[in-house]
Amino acid sequence: MIAVSGATGHLGRLVIENLVERGVAAGEIVALARSPRKAQDLAARGVQVRAADYSQPDTLVAALQGVEKLLLVSASEVGQRVAQHRNVVDAAREAGVQLLAYTSILKADTSGMQLAAEHKASEEIIRATGIPFVLLRNGWYLENYTGNLASTLEHGALLGSAHDGRVSAAARADYAAAAAEVLTGSGHENQTYELGGDAFTLPELAGIISRESGRPVEYRNLPEDAFAGVLVSVGLPEPFARVLADADRGIARGELFTDRDDLRRLIGRAPTTPREAVAAALRG
Ligand SMILES: NC(=O)c1ccc[n+]([C@@H]2O[C@H](COP(=O)([O-])OP(=O)(O)OC[C@H]3O[C@@H](n4cnc5c(N)ncnc54)[C@H](OP(=O)(O)O)[C@@H]3O)[C@@H](O)[C@H]2O)c1
Repeated sequence: MIAVSGATGHLGRLVIENLVERGVAAGEIVALARSPRKAQDLAARGVQVRAADYSQPDTLVAALQGVEKLLLVSASEVGQRVAQHRNVVDAAREAGVQLLAYTSILKADTSGMQLAAEHKASEEIIRATGIPFVLLRNGWYLENYTGNLASTLEHGALLGSAHDGRVSAAARADYAAAAAEVLTGSGHENQTYELGGDAFTLPELAGIISRESGRPVEYRNLPEDAFAGVLVSVGLPEPFARVLADADRGIARGELFTDRDDLRRLIGRAPTTPREAVAAALRG
């Protein structure tokens, strides 16, 4: 059986779709959900939905019974993630999981971004268990940008603190396909994949948005504090806004850029381009 955590989230759902498309029987897929009621649609399709909260270790060992391969989708509560991931890894060892794949971040071991610290610590915990692992070091999601397209168009400005740093972003669907490959294919044990799509700078992305929409959009680089302030003003909690502004500083340093073609090789096709993602978001 193959288990996917964060199954009620965007990425987890896409991984489960990919597993089904690859011919994995629904009954062989375990959807680990903090709130199983959010996964009722998956249960209706025959997927085994099991309650699993990263912060409640007793739920985890039970949820992983009979699971051979586990995709641990990294948790979303920044600051709590190392302890949460440790709980999942401990439970995986106790339950006899034979392959543990983890969604990390590009260059987790060398990146200076605040976001990377928890991933680096989590990778170290995973390596120390002795369970065969796969580190899926995901780059930025294209959706981080296309999700704000309406506001970008309204203001005619894409805001950030990344200067002209290059970011190798790809669609969640691409990262999900890569995860499904390592869960169903062979030869991935103890591999670390640096995953990203075509690289672009934020000024280039503003140009793409402008061309695809036919409306003027410019990139406006802000000091990190000012960018964090903008993110707070649109409703993000301040600590998270600061983490995202810090990530833009990381982009300026090249920490979300990769020239490796691991993603393309794993999914057997070109990852979604920024132009395709923008065009799809404009249609949608
Ligand atoms: N590469 C990037 O650009 C990028 C951007 C954002 C996030 N991320 C990372 O990638 C992960 C997956 O992305 P996503 O878009 O799928 O995020 P998402 O839609 O927010 O999904 C996160 C999933 O994790 C689950 N979860 C959170 N805390 C949990 C806990 N304590 N116990 C069990 N499950 C828990 C959530 O459950 P509920 O449905 O119950 O909330 C949800 O299913 C994120 O969690 C984050 O670590 C990466």
